[in-house]
Amino acid sequence: MDICETKTSLRSFRAALPGKVGLVPTMGALHEGHLSLVRRARAENDHVIATIFVNPTQFGPNEDLDTYPRAAEADLALLRAEGVDAVFTPAPAEMYHPDAQTVVETTQLAKILIGRLRPGHFRGVATVVTKLFNICQPDAAYFGEKDYQQLQVIRTMVRDLDIPVRIEGVPTMREADGLAMSSRNLRLTPEARAAAPALHAALSAVQGRPGLSVGRMRKLLREILERAEGAEIASIDIRDAATLAPVTGTPDTPVVVLLAVRFGPVLLIDNRVIAPV
Ligand code: PAJ
Repeated sequence: MDICETKTSLRSFRAALPGKVGLVPTMGALHEGHLSLVRRARAENDHVIATIFVNPTQFGPNEDLDTYPRAAEADLALLRAEGVDAVFTPAPAEMYHPDAQTVVETTQLAKILIGRLRPGHFRGVATVVTKLFNICQPDAAYFGEKDYQQLQVIRTMVRDLDIPVRIEGVPTMREADGLAMSSRNLRLTPEARAAAPALHAALSAVQGRPGLSVGRMRKLLREILERAEGAEIASIDIRDAATLAPVTGTPDTPVVVLLAVRFGPVLLIDNRVIAPV
């Protein structure tokens, strides 16, 4: 496995690869969820490039950039074991020109939901992912459905800017009890860890229920989440699955249910796309 710290070395490695290349962008601290993206990329391409870059431009001034977990050696060992061909691990100074002034922004999607809570976050994501596409020139790129809004931001930007890459969404990897895998799960107390599968349970309860209105759905979700010990509901959103626009009444097109629930200092998110029945 080649480890490239510079754009030049990654570009020349990429240029020499014959066949299809799949790209898996990450910020490291890898777990099985990330590895499921790598496995999908491996299955659908001749070569896989992974990137590990804790992107400063997607963190706000009071967010956890400095404490974001970094596990370089363990991450590289995991990627090596999955048969990844190359890993791009640039330093921030390699990635961003000191006078950088160009950004990519999905003007509407970046402002709603998580974008409202984290101003500038999706501009940072869209900009760094565009740069990674330009540097790595993949045929396909893999993103988790776990970060649903991020996936829609990337699909939209690729559509709007005619970026020649196929975007693949990968289903959320879960623990045996349904909790979506996340590096944040390690920060849960044992009591919170025991209560956290309530997100998955709530999402399952509103699926496959013919004629359930958005209002009833919201009530049912709230009831289940309120029963979870120590859970504080941050948001329950039911939106059009493609545009993330608000929906009302009884949906006749796919909707996505997006949950954000706090257990002490730890914010957990999960979502489910629900097709009309
Ligand atoms: P990061 O949080 O490291 O996540 C990397 C990828 O792994 C994302 O596409 C994310 O959706 C996916 N992922 C995380 N948990 C998952 C799970 N349980 N099941 C399936 N996939 C999961 O998301 C980012 O990094 C950054 O914003 C990035 C896109 C790399 C841009 O900096």
